[in-house]
Amino acid sequence: MYDFQTRINRRGTSCAKWDQDKKRTGREGLLPLWVADMDFHIAPEIQVALEKRLVHGVFGYTFRPESLDDALINWFSERHDWKISRDEIVEAPGIVPFIHMAIQKFSQPNDAIVIQEPVYYPFRLAIENNGRQVVNNPLKQDAEGKWHMDLPGLAKVLDDSSAKLLVFCSPHNPVGRVWQENELLALADLCRDKGVILISDEIHADLVHPGYRHTPWLTLPAERRPKSISLVSATKTFNLPGFTTAYAIIEDPELRDETRKMLKGLGMGGSESPLAYAATESAWRDGADWLDALLKHLRTNDELLRTKLAAGLPQVKVSDLEGTYLEWLDLRALGLEDRNIWNRVLDAGVWPSRGSQFGKTGECFLRVNIACPSSQLEEGLDRIITALQS
Ligand SMILES: Cc1ncc(COP(=O)(O)O)c(C=O)c1O
Repeated sequence: MYDFQTRINRRGTSCAKWDQDKKRTGREGLLPLWVADMDFHIAPEIQVALEKRLVHGVFGYTFRPESLDDALINWFSERHDWKISRDEIVEAPGIVPFIHMAIQKFSQPNDAIVIQEPVYYPFRLAIENNGRQVVNNPLKQDAEGKWHMDLPGLAKVLDDSSAKLLVFCSPHNPVGRVWQENELLALADLCRDKGVILISDEIHADLVHPGYRHTPWLTLPAERRPKSISLVSATKTFNLPGFTTAYAIIEDPELRDETRKMLKGLGMGGSESPLAYAATESAWRDGADWLDALLKHLRTNDELLRTKLAAGLPQVKVSDLEGTYLEWLDLRALGLEDRNIWNRVLDAGVWPSRGSQFGKTGECFLRVNIACPSSQLEEGLDRIITALQS
């Protein structure tokens, strides 16, 4: 019913993923498996909604329709058992811009802000771009290779740094963890005790695989939570990142008020793009079947990746993919330097994300985006294997 196997030519569309290989790597014709968007057509349901809006032909100033909020509320209620009330929704101009603004609003220059690397690298950039100090509490691996938060480490980091903010990724990009409720509660207890505001980036919330369940931060008991902002978006789930829309969900009235003032002070509402609104509303209203089909396809690609790597590069360890469509490959057992791995892979014509981008603990790791047709993934993996086998 939905096609996830046809390879679509995205070159020549100012496509960040496909049209920047020369600029970013110095090489041409690379097969990209890096930035987190998908090489798929959007759901036909969303295409219809966009076409309907497009055919109208007038694109004047637009406000966010109530029907979009209804779609958001129903989506998170049905998919995640998370009851969001209308007045908790604050529109944001994208998650990364929102994190930058929140850092300006809720901390002072040179203040410490905590992240847990390896993590989505714009978190670090948002802190550095605003002249604040990154305090890293690295994730740790257990004997089975599973990644965990270092909670005793975090308690110490919070005490030593007097940090006022923590930026959290849930589910976690790049290690693919879907945090369990007990882990979230332990984090909540620490942040609440120390008076730390927690920003929970839940852009990957819907991309969760069988056997796992995403626990939205704001479904934790209110008395256990610190002051919190949750960030959600339809852009990752439905491959609409070019529309740059996001929503901050803020239960705490004071924090919500402060956030609204922050946006007002920047002269900023949301995207105010009629096409972005049409796409987002349709995604949350009509997109469930497409998402379920996508998740099945991702399982197929996950198995493909594990089978191929087990055969071609058995030393490489791949974290379990609990959530996201981003595989985290540990290549340390190959005994090669990070730079050597990277150059070999690029020279073989494939372009994953370099692990060290996500923090020092990501050295000798690669992140591979599997949200593409299987034949494309297979070709990319063959190139990685050839590059590193010799
Ligand atoms: C964890 C995480 N947050 C945010 C984003 C991007 O959000 P936005 O496009 O709304 O800035 C991504 C994209 O990869 C992501 O992985």
